[in-house]
Order: sequence, then C-alpha cells, then structure tokens
Amino acid sequence: MEVVIVPDAKAGGELIAEAMAALIRRKPDALLGVATGSTPLPIYEALAAKVAAGAVDASTARICQLDEYVGLPQGHPESYRSVVLREVVEPLGLTPSSFMGPDGSAADVQAACEAYDQALAASGGVDLQLLGIGTDGHIGFNEPCSSLSSRTRIKTLTNQTRVDNARFFDNDIEQVPHHVITQGIGTILEARHLVLLATGEGKADAVAATVEGPLSALVPASALQLHRHATVVVDEAAASKLKLAEYFRATFAAKPEWQGL
Ligand code: GLP
Repeated sequence: MEVVIVPDAKAGGELIAEAMAALIRRKPDALLGVATGSTPLPIYEALAAKVAAGAVDASTARICQLDEYVGLPQGHPESYRSVVLREVVEPLGLTPSSFMGPDGSAADVQAACEAYDQALAASGGVDLQLLGIGTDGHIGFNEPCSSLSSRTRIKTLTNQTRVDNARFFDNDIEQVPHHVITQGIGTILEARHLVLLATGEGKADAVAATVEGPLSALVPASALQLHRHATVVVDEAAASKLKLAEYFRATFAAKPEWQGL
C-alpha cells in the first residue's frame, strides 16, 4: 500500500485527478469506479477542470458506481445515481449510457445486486476505483464485520453511518435509508488500482486502523492491505494518527515523478 500525505483536500484532489487523466490518456475507454460523499468532490472538480482546459478528453471513459441506497424513488436527488450523474457524468462530458450502477429501486433487490456484480465482471473490470472511508472504517457501504470476500449485496447501515449521512437528507436521520446495495469487499478488490482519499481529522482513527492496524473485518478498509496496487491519499489532518507518517513522506518524496500514483 502506498500512503501519500498531501497538505490539503485540494492537493489530494489534484493528485488523484492527474492519475485518472493519465489513465484515460493511456486507455480512453477506461472504466472508472467512482465514490460518493463529500471527500471525492475535489477530485471531480480537478478532473473537470482538466477536461475544460483540453488537457484530457474523458468523453469515451466509462463510469461505475460503488454503492446505492435502497428504496429511494428513481431520480431522488440524493440517490447515488443522481449524485454521480450530477457530479461526475455531466461535468466530464460523459454519455449517461457509459454509466453503470446497481438499481436501488428494483423490486427484487437481491437480483439487482447479482446482476450488477456480473455486469462489472463482464465489463472487463474496473481500471481505477476511487474510495472514501466512513468514520467507522467502511468502504462503499461495507460496514464493520463485512466479509472480506463479499460480493455486491444488500447491507444494513449502522446508526453511525446514518447519522454521518443525515446531512444529505435535510439533517433528518429519519429520511436516511436503512438499507443499501454495495459492491462487496471482494468485488472492490478486483479493481486494478484502488485509490482511497481521506481528509479531515474525523477520519484520522479510521485511516490509522486501515493503514497500520491489523487486517480485520472490523475495519473493512484494511482489506486494501491485500491489494497489489492500493494508494491511500490523506491530508495532514487525516494523517495525524499515523505512526509511520515520516516514512511515508520520505518514500513519496523519493519516488520518481514518472511513476505517478
Ligand atoms: C458513504 C459512502 C462512502 C463514503 C462515505 C464517506 O457512506 N457510501 O462511499 O466513502 O460515505 O463519505 P464522506 O466522504 O462524505 O465522509
């Protein structure tokens, strides 16, 4: 796992957006797995700026969703489908048909999970999967004690996650769905490159447990330790509980620029 400590969220967004742009230049039909929440927004802004400046043409890239709420009506502004269309697909000039996601409003949610898992496998695989992290160490919506080999499936949110996400629902926890569809940890680990961004002091404990703690289902993000190409980008605040921070800084500083992330 490579840990990169950046001064702030904007710098993290720029660094990851450049890695995504480089991937798209190499592979114009790359499949990019995107995450929701507040953390990745600086990445999308930086990538959209590159597209607007003509530094990369993302129009043939493909996008897939990490997770989704169950039971929100189609078109609900806080469904992750709507969020990804608004924050990623439109600003990058992608065609909505290049976008894959699980159907959280399906009558048979279990079948929708299986169909999405199979569609991801049939797509040729995710080239780069962006991840945020929950304060409880979740990735996607794989809450603590998710199986490290899990596939796309229905999960029940913890109370903590519903409290954390209430800000997207008028600060009213009653409006936050209890159930979600999430790519499983085993599904996520199949992506060729995992890039997790964490910013702010509130993520410091989860980051330390992910990077330096034992591999544990109690901290789902620690599964990144199993991946051959996982990059964790953290700002100073999110890095504040890392014992090896100086080592990570020195390692990245010594890295040849051409290697990228
Ligand atoms: C939700 C999403 C995750 C995201 C997490 C953290 O639970 N399902 O993919 O990483 O929120 O969100 P934020 O970045 O807003 O802290």
